[in-house]
Amino acid sequence: MDKLRIGIIGAGGIAQGRHIPTLLKLRERVSIEALYDVNFTTAADASAKFNIPKVTDSYQELFQLVDAVVICTPNKFHSEIAVAALDAGVHVLCEKPMAMTSRECEEMIEASKRSGKVLSIAFHYRFMKEAVAAKKAVAAGEIGKPLVVRVQALRRRRVPGWGVFTNKELQGGGSLIDYGCHLLDLSLWLMGNPGPSEVMGTTYNTLSKMPGQVNLWGAFDYSTFNVDDHVTAYIRFENGTSLLLETSWSNNIKEDVIENVSISGDMGGLEVFPFSLNYSKHGMLFNSEAAWLPGEEDPSIPQAQNFVEACLGLSEQIVKPEEALQVTQIIEAIYKSSEEGKSVSIQGKGEMAL
Ligand SMILES: NC(=O)c1ccc[n+]([C@@H]2O[C@H](COP(=O)([O-])OP(=O)(O)OC[C@H]3O[C@@H](n4cnc5c(N)ncnc54)[C@H](O)[C@@H]3O)[C@@H](O)[C@H]2O)c1
Repeated sequence: MDKLRIGIIGAGGIAQGRHIPTLLKLRERVSIEALYDVNFTTAADASAKFNIPKVTDSYQELFQLVDAVVICTPNKFHSEIAVAALDAGVHVLCEKPMAMTSRECEEMIEASKRSGKVLSIAFHYRFMKEAVAAKKAVAAGEIGKPLVVRVQALRRRRVPGWGVFTNKELQGGGSLIDYGCHLLDLSLWLMGNPGPSEVMGTTYNTLSKMPGQVNLWGAFDYSTFNVDDHVTAYIRFENGTSLLLETSWSNNIKEDVIENVSISGDMGGLEVFPFSLNYSKHGMLFNSEAAWLPGEEDPSIPQAQNFVEACLGLSEQIVKPEEALQVTQIIEAIYKSSEEGKSVSIQGKGEMAL
């Protein structure tokens, strides 16, 4: 195969803002052949803007024209479209989160196994330079065994005021499933995706009761805001590691954004953003920051490269679907724990409860 022929499904914000411009930079290996969007005009506008030859009337029609698709629809449709694509013999890069429920994720994995086609999820934080450096440090044994992991994905008053992000029916939740999922995925990957055993979570929906609160990312309808705006969770793993998670779209904090994964291991520790390795020597703990980190500034490029190379059989895919399933299993357990007001036991090393 000379070039991987790619189609885009869902031609809105993330397709036009990230995936299409990135894939156009990989012209030597990729051609974008077609677009499909349930709103034909959106796809037609993107086709004209990016010079993409074809707009189709259905995703089934698009599958006939391509080797791979990037799914950029609201979360509710990820699983249905991914399964159909894989069953049609088409590789899939699906936007995050993998799907709204772990059952939907399992169906996607089954379809990928049936077809032998690549299924990957766009958890692009893994491709950031700091994350790659952290992964190398953990793999080299620099911090020993991870004991306590702290994950923060906090924005100060930045609820996305566009698109369908505050629509529970279409997205499955709010700050956790949309934003916290990135940092949760990153932390699990750095830890080597151990199996979780117990989850305790609390979610808040304060914004629906606070009309008129200043929001820096546009207006949203307070009266229909039925998703989580603050979430805390404690996750215990089978290997004894524990993880503290805090995520919010609308934290009342001093900083604009606090985004970090911090790992304390039995030999040393690290912070991912900015990258710092805290290593032990002569019985003392030293902090070291790299003067320079190799890699691309824009993680979308290595993400797309890895997907394309995996489809062409040239590289192993970095984001494996079983790992993305584990993220959804934990998110599901956090929502359940909050609803029931008690901790939830899970077995989630990306295992499928079939
Ligand atoms: N990786 C990231 O950091 C990141 C950032 C933003 C969004 N996303 C994800 O990307 C996805 C899309 O988000 P967005 O911001 O682009 O939303 P958007 O609303 O801007 O675009 C979604 C598009 O999908 C179309 N669509 C809806 N249902 C469809 C269907 N059944 N079939 C085909 N097209 C359909 C809509 O008409 C719209 O044009 C979501 O899953 C979201 O979580 C990821």
